[in-house]
Amino acid sequence: MNADGRTRLDQTPEWTALAKHREELGNLRLREVFAAHPDRGTAYTLRVGDLYIDYSKHLVTDDTLRLLRELAAATDVFGLRDAMFRGERINTTEDRAVLHTALRAPRDAVIEVDGENVVPGVHAVLDKMAAFADRVRSGEWTGHTGKRIRTVVNIGIGGSDLGPAMAYEALRAFTDRDLTVRFVSNVDGSDLHEAVRDLDPTETLFIIASKTFTTIETVTNATSARTWLLDALGGEEAAVARHFVALSTNAEKVADFGIDTANMFEFWDWVGGRYSYDSAIGLSLMIAVGPDRFREMLDGFHLVDEHFRTAPAESNVPLLLGLLGVWYGNFLGAQSHAVLPYSHYLSKFTAYLQQLDMESNGKYVDRDGHEVRWQTGPVVWGTPGTNGQHAYYQLIHQGTKLIPADFIGFAEPVAELGDELKAQHDLLMANFFAQTQALAFGKTPDEVRAEGVPEELVPHKTFKGDHPTTTILARELTPSVLGQLVALYEHKVFVQGAIWNIDSFDQWGVELGKVLAKRVEPALTEGADVPGLDASSRALVAVYRELRGR
Ligand code: F6P
Repeated sequence: MNADGRTRLDQTPEWTALAKHREELGNLRLREVFAAHPDRGTAYTLRVGDLYIDYSKHLVTDDTLRLLRELAAATDVFGLRDAMFRGERINTTEDRAVLHTALRAPRDAVIEVDGENVVPGVHAVLDKMAAFADRVRSGEWTGHTGKRIRTVVNIGIGGSDLGPAMAYEALRAFTDRDLTVRFVSNVDGSDLHEAVRDLDPTETLFIIASKTFTTIETVTNATSARTWLLDALGGEEAAVARHFVALSTNAEKVADFGIDTANMFEFWDWVGGRYSYDSAIGLSLMIAVGPDRFREMLDGFHLVDEHFRTAPAESNVPLLLGLLGVWYGNFLGAQSHAVLPYSHYLSKFTAYLQQLDMESNGKYVDRDGHEVRWQTGPVVWGTPGTNGQHAYYQLIHQGTKLIPADFIGFAEPVAELGDELKAQHDLLMANFFAQTQALAFGKTPDEVRAEGVPEELVPHKTFKGDHPTTTILARELTPSVLGQLVALYEHKVFVQGAIWNIDSFDQWGVELGKVLAKRVEPALTEGADVPGLDASSRALVAVYRELRGR
């Protein structure tokens, strides 16, 4: 029981029932489960939009899924979901609404925050972005010397970088190939240096993306970029207006920086950074793929929003994926979750999900301020197959850890590949299907022996199997499909946060780092005595200063 009289999550009957069920289930063998239920490979599947989801290779039975849904009901996941969609301030520690779903709502939708319909504002910004993107793409928007823009450099970090950078990669095949977008995030000056060293400043547009416009990395890089530009253009301040635009919620800071607020694309405090690339933060992406493709992507998001909002628990995909994560993390001891896309275009997808998931659900205190007694968000990791197969898959197959994994693949290669490269796609996807099969069903000692393997090598070549995977398959990686995928993960993360009773929308842990870095800097630059610096850090700073010859 909590101090406020509410039953602790891990003491609820639904949680206890799951713990008991886990004991009774013992080590579920997927070979046996499939033998007993030959239709499992089609029965344990769902569809949402263009996505086909196979969850048959999970260590669950009908009873497991029912008990998990009962936990979701007991923790009122759908109640919190409805409150989110209604615009209630469910981000309680920051007293904010959580309305990224409004960013992709249709023009005629009505979603109110404090009695005001936010949808017209969303579409006004989208229209302004579209007009600007079209001007850049057509060459009508020129730099200070009248040249058209050839390279866009997005400067931002966290949600103001990972989303557009991931989506630009994902939708490369849909981009205007005459325009290039680069992304600078790291305060390490080499990031900006490498991004601009071969660029012509007269043909470069900087997009400064920062919700708060106070983030030190972004403001520092933006200031250096301005210096780089002005140095090349003879110090003419007027050039800034043609080469810098801002994406922010903070008009005052944007103006202070010297960017004309007419060239600012706004969003709102009810959009979390890691949920923001479908807002103005996606401007670089919109310039790359064009407004129509961007809107297709938003429609994909909206399709899954509507599914999450209305589908019954039994067929609600984000709910299912969230519950499977709870099953592994809280009842089977999994610490991490791998996301393994079999598309090179999704090379940044898992890095994007790391922020989405780990910044949202990396919390040890619940919404009521109590320390939780259960595991919360997993470590999310992964890279595109098949590269991972030749690196860390060994550990997934034969290591000692339970690592549930999502395999994401597509039936069609992108249209612009030539025939020879298109032919490689079947090989890629053969790996995709072979891996999930091997992970689930392994290879028994008898099967190994039947191959004539000497007895002493049999244990080494035996694969136990029972490594759980979800397969997500779509025809093609289109803008809409990307939106569907991202919304799926957003809502999965939501489901888990709701069950764990944590605030998935704040990030106080990151805020601490920001404050501390500012405090420590004078110790590095001036050798200042920073109060509160511990003995180890003080000694390290001294060595650093010595190495820098200070
Ligand atoms: O990493 C912490 C964080 O606050 C993220 O949530 C956010 O996406 C990022 O910093 C960047 O913040 P801003 O967009 O305000 O510069």
